[in-house]
This record gives sequence, structure tokens and C-alpha cells, in this order.
Amino acid sequence: MCGIVGCVGSDDTGRIVHQGLENLEYRGYDSAGIALTGETLTLAKTAGQVDELTAPRSADATAGIGHTRWSTHGEPTETNAHPHTDCTGEVAVVHNGIIENYDALKTELSEQHVFRSETDTEVIPHLVEEQLADDVSLLSAVQRATQRLDGSYAIAATAAGHDGIVVAREDSPLLIGHGDDATFIGSDATAFVEHTDRVTYLESGDIAHLTADDVTIYNGGESVDRPTDTLDWDAEAAGKSGYEHYMLKEIHEQPRALRQTISGRIDDLAIDVDLDVDLPTEYLQSVEEVQIVACGTSYHAGLYAKELLETYAGVRVTVHIASEYEFNGERDPWRTLVLAITQSGETADTLSALREAAGAGARTLALTNTLGSTVTREADDTIFIRAGPEIGVAATKTFVSQVATATLLTVHLGQVRGTLSSQATTEFLESLRDLPGAVQQVLDREPTIERAAETYADSEAFFYIGRRTGYPVALESALKLKEISYDHAEGFAAGELKHGPLALVTPETPVIAILTDGTAAEKTVHNVKEVESRGAPVVGVTSEPTLTTDVDTVFEIPACGPLEPVVANVVLQLFAYHVANEKGRSIDKPRNLAKSVTVE
Ligand code: G6P
Repeated sequence: MCGIVGCVGSDDTGRIVHQGLENLEYRGYDSAGIALTGETLTLAKTAGQVDELTAPRSADATAGIGHTRWSTHGEPTETNAHPHTDCTGEVAVVHNGIIENYDALKTELSEQHVFRSETDTEVIPHLVEEQLADDVSLLSAVQRATQRLDGSYAIAATAAGHDGIVVAREDSPLLIGHGDDATFIGSDATAFVEHTDRVTYLESGDIAHLTADDVTIYNGGESVDRPTDTLDWDAEAAGKSGYEHYMLKEIHEQPRALRQTISGRIDDLAIDVDLDVDLPTEYLQSVEEVQIVACGTSYHAGLYAKELLETYAGVRVTVHIASEYEFNGERDPWRTLVLAITQSGETADTLSALREAAGAGARTLALTNTLGSTVTREADDTIFIRAGPEIGVAATKTFVSQVATATLLTVHLGQVRGTLSSQATTEFLESLRDLPGAVQQVLDREPTIERAAETYADSEAFFYIGRRTGYPVALESALKLKEISYDHAEGFAAGELKHGPLALVTPETPVIAILTDGTAAEKTVHNVKEVESRGAPVVGVTSEPTLTTDVDTVFEIPACGPLEPVVANVVLQLFAYHVANEKGRSIDKPRNLAKSVTVE
């Protein structure tokens, strides 16, 4: 949520920062701005998207910072766009996060300073201005200013006549990119991935000063060393590779993403999995409950994981919307494993739930896509889903990789706890190995799915139904459609339909039924009849054609064992994509949404 980019040491700073903002637009896109500093400060802002922002030019610029915004405080106007400046117009600050005490600070500062925007951020340049008046360095000024701030933030500040950029991090993510001739900052590595793959992740409490030839990092007033890591993906992986949208590219990348997820993790000889995670066997055997915390699509992956873990690993699982999570005081924290599922590793609600669990003494495990993200530093252990960069706001390949990773975890737990027979293990592992191929077969039938999407695109609403692992897939498929088409779409447990939602069903509301293996499809077929008799068109997704003899549209998928509902999900990702595309929606940047939501 909100993207930050910065560059120091290049004579093409304005263009580089503008390019970085384009890369980061998926983090927020309701307004944008750039500040360049040298002897003077040059500022450009827009109330629109990055392509409406003209990169500023400045002959003496040595440093630049930029920001693309997802509004929290104040509407998306040009005045509220970052960078924000002080009264002198010489200090510029971009910020991601929330300054909780901004009201009190603003009241205090308003006696001497003129505020222009409605944002919480604007207190920061004025605080820095006050400190610079004492003739201190920009580093000291930012250091002192941050001591006044409560809340979460990633900040980058520059000032006319001061060398370089000063950045500070408290909770919100921020990292440094080390190029050959220039140094970069970004709220994630996409900001500068064309320039370097060498990165340093800042930690909470870090303040760093970047100049053309040096980077120094401090924490608690002491200089600290932070390691330099190499990214395992590059600019090409983060680009669109000829697809019209990132989302479509990412849907098509799923066979590869799945292969990466399982690569090297299945031991064929021992019929076992290796997750490269240090969870002691005795501990896993003693776990009484797994509590899953997650938001959005990751929450749906959590519901899928619950079905697998309870059925095959013999462990009680509760799944919590992270923002609603409280550690249940009746549980023994030593026997409770809290699993945070988050593709970005930065979702504030999920991190806050994780901290609550850790505070209660529970062991925490993260399932994430993002190396170096906050969750990887805070959880006791991490398993990476290895889906590769996902830019489209609507999560697709991270969902399938999360479910595949949860399947590996189920096999591991089931074996350690002695609840998974060798036959079931073999079935699971086969399903995992077959999954990339099955997904590819579905992708190859995209034109059929596109035609069906065109047929139904003008419907009043879309309802999705499924049972067992088909239920989270119904929820996730409905979420995809509503996120990108803005149509009313809901997922229901198929059996619940007759307890209320059936009142919404009409001939104008297609019902999409998940009728795959492992989803009690023979029961869901009865619910299909219920909606058919109310005149609703039915779309069935199945590998068993006998189940769908009466339905209007059938998406036939290859049989794929316990993971067949994931294959159904891929069909419905494409369905959602083509409905939205038919309507000319902004697919990669849907209205009001952001990829990574770093505020609670
Ligand atoms: C946002 C995104 C969703 C995502 C959710 C959780 O709401 O728009 O697509 O599922 O955050 O994100 P996470 O990074 O924690 O998986």
C-alpha cells in the first residue's frame, strides 16, 4: 500500500524515479509525485495515475524520491499527493504507513507552520524543518523528527542543499538497492529491479543515509551492519512479457509457479516431503491446534489448508480473518501453532495477529512469497511458496502456490503425526505432481472460457457454490470476479444456499458450481437443481461429465485428485478476467484496492 522509490548517484534521477513509480503502481495508484533535490528542490505531483505525472527535470538534481499513493488520510487530490514539503519548500518527504499522533503534532506545529494537505504525513517535513533550523545534518534532523512519531512508517526525505536521501523504517517495509553507479530505495524491490538485484532489507528502527558513494545505517543511535542479499527474480520476471495485463500473465505462469513451489521438496524414494523448516518432530506431534491467520485470498488458502490438515494430519484447525484474531486464552500456547499465510509478508492485519499469538507464547510459522519481508523476520519459522513476483492486485498464482505449499505441510504433519497412510501420501504427492500439467491443460482451453465469460458478462450478479475444498474455491472465485469486474459476486457453502441466499437467485444470476473431486459434488448437484428450478443459468466445473448433464455451461477439467478444486479455481480466474476485460475494467489496478495493505 503506497509505493516509495528513490535514487541517488545518477544524472537521470527524474526518469529513474518515474520508472520506479510505474513499477510500483500496484501498491496504490490514486495519486503520485516526485521530488528532485540538488541545490534546489523541484516537485511534480498529480491527482491521477503515474502516467499522468510528467517526470520533473532539474539540471542540478543529485537525489530523487517518488511516491504512488493509496489514500488513508485525505482524498486523492494533488495537494494530498506525496512528496509533502515544509514551509520553506526545501524539504520533501514521502511516507508509507500511518502517523497515529499526527493530530496532536499538527496542532502543536500549526502555531509556526502552514499546513496545506489533510494528510498525516505532512507533519514530518515540518518536524524536519524545525530540526534543520538548528543547523544539524539531514540525517540528525530526520532522526530527531522520527523520535516524535508514533505509528508505523517507511519514510524517505531529501532537502535542497543537503547530500543524498535519508530513510527511516518503523514496521512498514523499506529496502535499499545497490547498483553499480547509483543507490536506490524502494518499498519493495520492484521499484528498482531493472537496475540491481543486490538488496539490503532495513529493519524496524533503522535510519539510513544514502549518498552517491556510501550507505550508512543506524539503529538506536549506533551504526549497524545489515547483510546484502541477492534477489531470486529479475526485471523480466516482473514485466508483462507481452500479455495485456499482469493478471493474465500471472494466471499463465501458474504451471511454472507450481513447479517452483514443489521443486526439490518431494522425496520420491522416501515418499516424503522436505520443507526446509526447523519444526521439531516432538513439537509437531504435540500440537493440539493450528490457528491460521490471514486476509483476503490468503484467508481462502487458509480455509483450503484447514480442510486438508484436519482430514489428513489429524489436527484441529481454526482459520481466522487476521483483523478479528485474538489468542483464545483457553488454549495451551505451547501446543498451538499459529500459521500466518500472507503472500506479501507485509499485511498489517496479519502481522498484528502474528504478534498477538507470539505475545501469548505460541509458536509462529509464516507461509509467504516474499523473501526478507517483515513476516519472515518476526515468525519463528518461514516456508516460502516460491510463486515468483506477483504484480496484479488480484492474487492468482500466489493462491495456487499457497495451497500447494499447504498440501506439502499437510503431508509432512500427517507423516510426523502418523495420521496419513502411505497410500494417501502417494495420492497427495501424485496430485501435486499432476497439478502443473492439469493447470496447463485448462490454460490451453482459454478461448472456450473467454466465450462463456462474454455470454454471462452482463448478468446482474454471480453466485459461486461448493462444498469442502470446493467452498474456499467458491469464495476465492467470487472474490476474483468482484475485485476486477465490480460485479456483485458471492461464494456460498452449497448447502447454505437454501437457508437464505436462494432468495437472490433469478434467471439473471448465473450460479457457478464447483463439482470437482473431494468436494461432495454428488450433494452439490442437488443444490444445482434448486437453482435451476428458479430459472438461474448454471455453470459447472468438473472432471466428471455425468454430474453436469443438465447444466447450461460446463468447464471440463482434468482429474487431479485432492487438488482438483485448485484446477477449477484457475478456470474461474480466467472467467473473472474475461468478464472484467469484456467490461473494459482496470484489471491490474482495480478501483479502491491495493496489493499490499500495510495499515490496519
Ligand atoms: C489485499 C490484496 C488481496 C490480498 C490481501 C492479503 O487486500 O488486495 O489480494 O489477498 O491483501 O494479502 P497478503 O499479502 O497478506 O496475502
